[in-house]
Amino acid sequence: MSKTIAILTSGGDAPGMNAAIRAATMVAVAKGHRMLGIRHGYRGLLDEKISPIDADRVNGILREGGTILHSARSKRFHSVEHRNRAREVLTKHGVDGLIAIGGNGTLTGLTLLSDTSEAGDWPVQCIGIPASIDNDIALTGLAIGVDTAMNTIVEACDRIADTATAHGRTFIIEVMGRDSGYLSMTSAIASGANMVLFPEAARTEEELVSSMVKTILTVRERHPENQRVVAIKAEGVPTPTDRLKELVDAKVFEITGEEHEDEDIETRVTVLGHVVRGGRPSAFDRLLGSRFGNVAVRAVLAGEHRKMVSWLPPMDLPEGAGTRAQADPYCYLVDLPAVLSATKQLLEGQSPLARWRATAFDDLEDVFLL
Ligand code: F6P
Repeated sequence: MSKTIAILTSGGDAPGMNAAIRAATMVAVAKGHRMLGIRHGYRGLLDEKISPIDADRVNGILREGGTILHSARSKRFHSVEHRNRAREVLTKHGVDGLIAIGGNGTLTGLTLLSDTSEAGDWPVQCIGIPASIDNDIALTGLAIGVDTAMNTIVEACDRIADTATAHGRTFIIEVMGRDSGYLSMTSAIASGANMVLFPEAARTEEELVSSMVKTILTVRERHPENQRVVAIKAEGVPTPTDRLKELVDAKVFEITGEEHEDEDIETRVTVLGHVVRGGRPSAFDRLLGSRFGNVAVRAVLAGEHRKMVSWLPPMDLPEGAGTRAQADPYCYLVDLPAVLSATKQLLEGQSPLARWRATAFDDLEDVFLL
């Protein structure tokens, strides 16, 4: 029997969302089902911005950044009254399954929408696809957009390293990630940065300053011909980047001022901001989005409900939280409420993964310094 599947993207966009929309649409249509695109996320759902999409509409979108369905963060969706309205809209359009692509907010919205205490026996099957450059969603190794964002950061760091080397300067490069340091940590390794500052380490302002000063002085001593220092700082670190720069410069000047008064030791700051979220998706994000889209549609067709598609979870899944997807051995289907509670633990620093992330780089600090 032919099904109607609706798809939306919500929250911060992530490169590779279009690949997921395209794959889901093509698989659904090829198998004889109808696809509806909801524009502007949950806000568009409440405003009934819904229209059919087919293979022609998604032709060529694979290589485009952003999302052809547009995205939004809806405050209205936080209320039961508006979620009731959303359920009515989906029922009115004959929707059998809803696929929501996005980050924590999107998955929380989907979990509430499908909560039986609110929804009763509302029959629409809800499947989530993780997409957020922050990689702050638990029980999945990666979310759509992380790889492209990391490549963008690394490219920027390579460019900055050239000018930093020419002048023997220190740069602090601030990268997105909300409360998660994942992007800062991975891009620091991939770009060969001298240090990384991330929120999970929970360092005080004093500790941040002293660790930066230590790095700068060590590099000056060990590499007098190349005094370049590149520090990648996650936006989630509470000390504002400009303030950190001022404190570090003051301290370095205090220690070396007279000795090095002719040298250009002032730190420069680059905030990459939303640059990191845009651009054409990397080959890996196109692949990941396509595989997630494929698995999500097949999950709806197989009668799955309240699940998130996940990519090779980094640690064992909690007992009974999910199973390997039939359609793709690299993907899992995990329970949405389990994802949300594990994500809360991850962001509060309580899970084993959070603890590993917090300590792994402490142990590497002297390695980075070489
Ligand atoms: O969650 C994705 C993200 O890009 C975060 O890294 C960042 O903190 C936030 O969204 C920025 O949100 P906005 O686009 O609303 O400024």
